[in-house]
Amino acid sequence: MPQKILQTPLTHKEIIIDDKKDTIILALESSCDETACAIVKNGREVLSNIVASQIKTHMKFGGVVPEVAAREHLEAVNEVIAKAFEEAQISPENITAIAATVGPGLVGSLLVGMNAAKTLSIVYDKPFIGINHLNAHVCANYINTDLEPPFIALLVSGGHTQIIKVANYSNSEILGETIDDAAGEAFDKVARLLDLPYPGGPHLDKMADNGNPYAYKFTKAKTDEFDFSFSGLKTAVLQLVKRLSTENENYNKADVAASFRENITGILAEKTLKAAEKYNIKTIVLAGGVAANSEIRRKIRAFEQKQYKIYIPEMKYCTDNAAMIGSCAYFDDDVITDLGVEVFSRL
Ligand code: KG4
Ligand code: ZN
Repeated sequence: MPQKILQTPLTHKEIIIDDKKDTIILALESSCDETACAIVKNGREVLSNIVASQIKTHMKFGGVVPEVAAREHLEAVNEVIAKAFEEAQISPENITAIAATVGPGLVGSLLVGMNAAKTLSIVYDKPFIGINHLNAHVCANYINTDLEPPFIALLVSGGHTQIIKVANYSNSEILGETIDDAAGEAFDKVARLLDLPYPGGPHLDKMADNGNPYAYKFTKAKTDEFDFSFSGLKTAVLQLVKRLSTENENYNKADVAASFRENITGILAEKTLKAAEKYNIKTIVLAGGVAANSEIRRKIRAFEQKQYKIYIPEMKYCTDNAAMIGSCAYFDDDVITDLGVEVFSRL
């Protein structure tokens, strides 16, 4: 066993350098179908951000095939690391620490990024920082901004939907989450009903732009204060599509897409505002792949009129990327710095 693994790991506070010198993090992300590497300075400045997407491969199957994803990560990982160094014009000696997503995600995929990061950590004798993918999505909001806790975060991705109260850099509390489908999952499933290609969310978003958002109304699921349920909505859309397509096979799909988008983003935005009101927190941030949705961006942005400070990541930092991992490695105190850490698929 390498000597380094036997040593007591440094704490996060010991790794992150104080104000006088820059902290430069090399970060890797491989939890699903993007192999990504970024170099991030002091948590907010992205020196390079490389993403190799596997969308084309998985399109044929209509979804991510875990075994295929892991193999593609393996093929892409060395190249994205090399490109990240090249773009940032930084050499390994000038890196402060090396971070990687350790979960949640696909185990085979996570192993590729994490083991690459651990190997670099041993070879270059730099500390390793294991990152939670969900916290990283939220931390995307620190990039190029002045954001500081406390804030309320709406995290909407392919696998998760949560309202989180971030009190400070080491304390956050999940106020509510989905009890069935995640928001991104609901977008993807409804997109499939409308015969849109994988990944459905962005395609549905575009189609919805040409439809009437008030053409169809769906009943809202009854859930606890800050929890969500989208499986009933998905079934309602399925029944609607079945009915419309038997009446006329050229039914107006854009109206269905727009009505679904209006409904789901309305529920997400309304509960997020309620959480901010309840805890009297004046800053709201949006995060995760679904934060790329044009309507949820509009609805959350509109809370500025109610005197809230709103943070929404640039599009490229909404969907999976490694810059958010580098930012999280800097800001989040609740990280794992032990080289013995294992990957995990679920929370
Ligand atoms: O955060 P992410 O890249 O991966 C996970 O951590 O899950 O999120 C991917 C999800 C997918 O479900 C995708 O369809 C959805 O984000 N998504 C969108 C849009 N762009 C990505 N959903 C709705 N509208 C979009 N524009
Ligand atoms: Zn993600």
